[in-house]
Amino acid sequence: MKILVIGGGGREDVLAWKLARDSARPELFCAPGNAGTRRYGTNLDIGAEDMDALLAWARVHRPDLTVVGPEAPLCAGVVDQFEAEGLRVFGPSQAGAELEGSKVFSKEVMSAAGVPTAAAEYFTSAAEAKAYLDQTGVPVVIKAEGLAAGKGVTVCETREQAESAIDESLVGRAFGDAGNRILVEAFLDGEEASILALVDGTRFVLLASSQDHKRALDDDQGPNTGGMGAYSPAPIIADEMWPLIRDTVFQPLLDELTRRGISYKGVLYAGLMVGESGIKVLEFNCRFGDPEAQVVIPRISSDLVPVLNACIDGALSDDLVTWHDDVAVGVVMASGGYPGSYQKGKVIEGLDDAGSLDGVVVFHAGTAVRDGDVVTSGGRVLCVTARGRDLEQAVAQAYKAIEKIGFDGAHYRRDIAAKAFRCVRST
Ligand code: AMP
Ligand code: GLY
Repeated sequence: MKILVIGGGGREDVLAWKLARDSARPELFCAPGNAGTRRYGTNLDIGAEDMDALLAWARVHRPDLTVVGPEAPLCAGVVDQFEAEGLRVFGPSQAGAELEGSKVFSKEVMSAAGVPTAAAEYFTSAAEAKAYLDQTGVPVVIKAEGLAAGKGVTVCETREQAESAIDESLVGRAFGDAGNRILVEAFLDGEEASILALVDGTRFVLLASSQDHKRALDDDQGPNTGGMGAYSPAPIIADEMWPLIRDTVFQPLLDELTRRGISYKGVLYAGLMVGESGIKVLEFNCRFGDPEAQVVIPRISSDLVPVLNACIDGALSDDLVTWHDDVAVGVVMASGGYPGSYQKGKVIEGLDDAGSLDGVVVFHAGTAVRDGDVVTSGGRVLCVTARGRDLEQAVAQAYKAIEKIGFDGAHYRRDIAAKAFRCVRST
């Protein structure tokens, strides 16, 4: 069995790691992969967004299954194109991926479905957007409509910040066409959690909860990043919240998509804000979260291939996904300067030592091989993941592993999972 994984980040490394362990023992190919995915298969010199080259490879090699990691190829319609070639591919169609590709579409669907979310209006005129701030006041959130690599959202404490975020997108075109329209959204207070579901067109299976750490620095300070670490499960998601998440978020959303003629298959990711007024959806994504995947997927004890195939075939059932009775923590090691500009090509030491610790897997993200060395090649470089019987143990093990790894300029947060301890202690 041949499987193609599209993408080259930490999420794709954990997907390759898990698929390599499948009882079907698949032959894995990653496009483009990273220095980590080489451990499990063959890296192809094809970018995740190079649709023509992906299709050309797939026509010749006929993978039995293709798993799409990132949002960009999904929003560009890679699933539709592969399906048109008679290929089996896991992920939503371009129409389904619009939930992530357009924050305006996503809001419209949520509103039609009655899914709880923050009130928002959209604008193409900076003057009209600024005038609307009279009604919202601050804090307020300004969001570019389209894909902006995690940089299109600004949480604004002051009116000046909000006006400059509006100008940045609509006048300065900081996000190109992705920022032609913006949302001005009510600020929600609370604690975030990520809930991922596997979806087969009509049915869905909710995966274990997790929590990302979006800010660059400890105590949620500094700029937003793609995610600096995660843990699973997230105790902020109490047992009694699951029926609510199922019945007021995922079910109505999928029903509304069906009404619109969209059969959603793949991963549906809800970014939730859990606050005093209950659960509200911050965003939907059309793929596994990164770094959430690195802490959720290793906790799955069942094979992944049958469940991904069941999503494609409309044959999903709860019993296809079983879980290890443990917890997982992942700490991202990033390049010096990330999420701003950073240098590449720094030699990474200590990977084998770290990976040999009990329960630890070092997932790669921005890594490459140069002259036999593993070197940095991106902003987020590694996600050092540890599984353990409880969070204390997993956190201690992840940071023990990090101490063994070094590269010039490396930075990471020291407080991954700290909120979970606060949450556990307060309950
Ligand atoms: P998004 O890409 O929409 O999830 O936004 C990125 C991050 O911005 C989220 O993970 C939150 O931390 C923050 N954020 C987005 N929308 C809101 C909101 N309405 N209220 C407060 N924080 C928000
Ligand atoms: N970790 C956030 C995301 O994957 O969008």
